Amino acid sequence: MTNHGANAAAGTIGIHDLSFATTQFVLPHTELARYNGTDIGKYHIGIGQQAMSVPAVDEDIVTMAAAAAAPVIARHGTDGIRTVVFATESSIDQAKAAGVYVHTLLGLPTSTRVVELKQACYAGTAALQFALGLVHRDPTQRILVIASDVSKYDADSPGEATQGAAAVAMLVSADPALLHIEEPSGLFTADVMDFWRPNYRETALVDGQESISAYLQAVEGAWKDYGEQGGRALGEFHAICYHQPFTKMAHKAHRHLLRCCGEDTDEAVVDRVLGRTTAYNAVVGNSYTASVYLGLAALLDETDEDLTGRPIGFLSYGSGSVAEFFAGTVVPGYHAHLRTAAHREAVDRRQTVDYPAYRELRDNSLPADGGDHMLPAQTGGPYRLAGTSGHKRLYEPR
Ligand code: COA
Repeated sequence: MTNHGANAAAGTIGIHDLSFATTQFVLPHTELARYNGTDIGKYHIGIGQQAMSVPAVDEDIVTMAAAAAAPVIARHGTDGIRTVVFATESSIDQAKAAGVYVHTLLGLPTSTRVVELKQACYAGTAALQFALGLVHRDPTQRILVIASDVSKYDADSPGEATQGAAAVAMLVSADPALLHIEEPSGLFTADVMDFWRPNYRETALVDGQESISAYLQAVEGAWKDYGEQGGRALGEFHAICYHQPFTKMAHKAHRHLLRCCGEDTDEAVVDRVLGRTTAYNAVVGNSYTASVYLGLAALLDETDEDLTGRPIGFLSYGSGSVAEFFAGTVVPGYHAHLRTAAHREAVDRRQTVDYPAYRELRDNSLPADGGDHMLPAQTGGPYRLAGTSGHKRLYEPR
């Protein structure tokens, strides 16, 4: 017996609003290829990436998160928001949750709980699931879920071409305007070392080929559990949003899932289910926790046909590894609540940098001496990191 839609007894719960933000600068892969002599086909076709977002010196996971969440608060106010869950794997502090800075920048009430979650790129989905549980317990509450990351690999390593940065903010509530999230979820955990970042490193370590096979193993495991929990059949899904460390990974993942289900793995079949889900990730790069929800934003914003009532699958993967497969259905009238113009503008307004300028930005790091260091104003976003003083980050509206 299937139990999808089982949360109907408590009213439908899901994503009421979704907004994303990215950085001030962008490095096209043509420029990276020109610098390192790589055939551009490897980037454009092999990994499916066109460009990567590059943060200004006064941008970080907090400024992007606040920029993503501000329009959500402007539209819906703060009433009923008693929890902010901030997912990231590029954390700026080992103790303080980045969401506390966002709480101040957005003027959220003091009667709020704020917490940070981590499990590589999976944590945004953990945040979403925890939010659904809280709303299930008290449907008058609304939860602000934020996923924000800057992905950084060693320069001149294979991972460099998959860098990126973005934040997604989602308001989770009863009677959502965009997407009902269904039960059940399919879950999978395996202790693997495909990608990790020890506390003493600024850049992630990754075993690229291991990360691809660990991801595929997780797809299989999460899907198997989803079926055992009474989930939908694969053919029911209009589209599937995959976590996209690079967009070609979504193609590999769906082909693997089709193979596991004994189905046709033609590229046309894969393309049909991925639809527009890769549109933003291809030009933003890997945004870690935000990636799968940029996939949802792209699907909703960029699909011409009406998605009302369509079941959408989600495969969230976080190296290490944890994965979850779950489903949602698109709510009637969703189109009126999208932020398509703002999202396109966030992508289009980025200033293109050449390789030397990118390298200077990525090699820039905050001084660790505890002195007073003010940062130049570079970002065109609504919030900036003004500097540091006494080992404290100082944020301000721009
Ligand atoms: N034209 C078209 N395709 C080309 C090409 C060209 N000129 N040159 C290479 N390719 C293809 C390769 O065939 C390969 O495709 P395949 O995977 O379908 O076989 C793809 O481009 C990548 O080439 P590869 O030699 O495997 O690249 P790489 O050794 O530089 O590694 C990654 C690529 C993706 C593994 C690497 O960028 C990486 O580690 N990224 C980080 C991944 C990550 O973050 N994982 C953790 C989270 S899931």
